[in-house]
Amino acid sequence: MKNQLAINGGKKAVSDEVKKVLPPWPPVYEATAEKLKAIYMSRKWSFNGQYEQEFCLKFAKYCGAKHGVFMINGTVTLESALHALGVKAGDEVIVPGNTWLATAMAAVYLGAIPVFVDVEPDTLCLDPEKVRKAITSKTKAIIPVHLFGSMADMDKFMEISKEYNIPVIEDCAHAHGGIRDGKGLGSIGHVGSFSFQQSKTLSAGESGMCLTNDDELADKLFRINHIGYAPGQKQGKAASSPEEGLICHNYRGLEFNAAILVDAMKHLSAQATLRDKNAMYLTELIKDVPGITVQARGRKADRQSYYNFVMLLQPSKLKPGITIKEVSAALFAEGVDCFIGGYGPVYKHMLWSVPKSQFRIHSKNVSEDVCANRQLGVSHTWILTNKLLMKATAAAVEKVMNAYCK
Ligand SMILES: Cc1ncc(COP(=O)(O)O)c(C=O)c1O
Repeated sequence: MKNQLAINGGKKAVSDEVKKVLPPWPPVYEATAEKLKAIYMSRKWSFNGQYEQEFCLKFAKYCGAKHGVFMINGTVTLESALHALGVKAGDEVIVPGNTWLATAMAAVYLGAIPVFVDVEPDTLCLDPEKVRKAITSKTKAIIPVHLFGSMADMDKFMEISKEYNIPVIEDCAHAHGGIRDGKGLGSIGHVGSFSFQQSKTLSAGESGMCLTNDDELADKLFRINHIGYAPGQKQGKAASSPEEGLICHNYRGLEFNAAILVDAMKHLSAQATLRDKNAMYLTELIKDVPGITVQARGRKADRQSYYNFVMLLQPSKLKPGITIKEVSAALFAEGVDCFIGGYGPVYKHMLWSVPKSQFRIHSKNVSEDVCANRQLGVSHTWILTNKLLMKATAAAVEKVMNAYCK
């Protein structure tokens, strides 16, 4: 029977043959392997080397920012951004509940208090109206996350920033190459923070970058990351001191990572555009399927650089006894490699160890509901493919939802 679910013995909607187009991630290139060997043989592996400088210049320009500072991961970039902006112990930092731990941990590392604010029900990104209500005299930064590649409402966040004189850090760990209203993500807030960790859409295993248009902030970020050295100074040849009280770290990235990224970046525009095209096609194919919608594209998105393609279940439309677990298992059996829930909410994550006295939850209903009951996604490689896989995915979603909806 054509409509029999694969989980009940029917034929898979997404065959192994159709899935052969799924690209292994991260991609590897022979030319990059040659470069890595040359770096190794040169013994110049670190400290603001040729590739670090090249990548900082190129990535900042690509995103439309003036400065880029390369670091060892996308957690210390957030911490360093808060630090450079003057956040101190006891200050409050507003973060979304629906994100990876790092967004909140960055505040915790500085002794600051992450204040979890809810996300919008459509984009799943930090809700600016709720942020307004969460601001206190202690609020010293806001970190909207462009979650799964969708886009936080940067117009509203920059308005809030001006009104209350609170800086905004864009967490762009999921949004490399996203363009909103003509501007690259990461160039709109006071600092843009990127991760190039293994799973990311621009990847070097580990490493990260802060972008900024502010010369003074760029100097501070560089010093924080290079144990106090200013940009351009050679190791062992410090020529000026960081300001007193600016506690600096060694958060330097490696030449190997920077070289991988210089090459990987050449493919980013084409990859982001293909993912965006396939995501829009799949969205169109499943728009009339009952019981399911799709995470909204960012408002004013010119190009959304999807990290995950996320669908949102409507539990009230499901038959009694059917939950996200059954839907996910049925989709998996149909051949769709989906996951439930993403990460959040952060404060309920198994790895969250921060005592209750050191964080605050301002609002949480949407985050908790979508993470537990509604959020179902596939990774960016799923949409870095072709129309055939999108059609097969849509057929799987339709088959499962028709069977499981009232
Ligand atoms: C939203 C978000 N912010 C920050 C990070 C931290 O990046 P990293 O793993 O490079 O420390 C991640 C990593 O997954 C992330 O998903």
